[in-house]
Amino acid sequence: MRRVAVVTLFPELIDALAACGMTRRAVECGALDISRVNPRDFADNAYRRVDDRPYGGGPGMVMMAEPLDQAIDRALDGVDGGRVTYLSPQGRRLDQALVREIATGPDRVLLCGRYEGVDERVIERRVDEEISIGDYVLAGGELAAMVVIEAVVRLLPGVLGNADSADQDSFSDGLLDCRHYTRPETWQGMTVPSVLLGGNHDAIHRWRQADALARTRARRPDLLNDASREAPARRRLERTDE
Ligand code: ADE
Repeated sequence: MRRVAVVTLFPELIDALAACGMTRRAVECGALDISRVNPRDFADNAYRRVDDRPYGGGPGMVMMAEPLDQAIDRALDGVDGGRVTYLSPQGRRLDQALVREIATGPDRVLLCGRYEGVDERVIERRVDEEISIGDYVLAGGELAAMVVIEAVVRLLPGVLGNADSADQDSFSDGLLDCRHYTRPETWQGMTVPSVLLGGNHDAIHRWRQADALARTRARRPDLLNDASREAPARRRLERTDE
């Protein structure tokens, strides 16, 4: 069982994810446990405030260190290994390789900031890694945490059926996905590539590989030039393409 504990001021967002689709199935089948801890429960003032004005002035508020520190302690209670991950635009960019690392690595505490961010001393003292889901700024880390959880859940053993195995995903071999079709055979005058209608599985496999490569060349040539990606699979594909 993979455990994820989310430190968040909006636990209902995480509950919504756990109540739907694949995440729900993963929880129901025992592959995933999601808990959440609200730093507000550790506020030491009558108003349950967890933010304050930034030293040095400027707009916005900063989340205070102490309630977050205590919330992280609580979150670490039930998790194994407990790598503390702060979601922020300053982090390592999430990609499928990082998703795989998380899926096979230690349990995670996902720390979500709000406002202008969190007191830097919490990051220094408690955070093991920072992850960004892209070069844009969200109002908080919750949606980013949900993106991480959903991407990871798909890779947990027993969650995806064989028919939609993660091996066939976009990026599983460093390429974009091929095109997909279902019935009817003709829709608004548009037909399905004929190779997919015959039962020649070798030919279908080759077509899908070539299609994935062509789409990657056209849309994301950077993926083909990225030496850190899975080069052997790509070279194999490029050979079949010649
Ligand atoms: N919090 C705010 N913006 C974010 C981003 N782009 N990625 C991760 N966490 C965030």
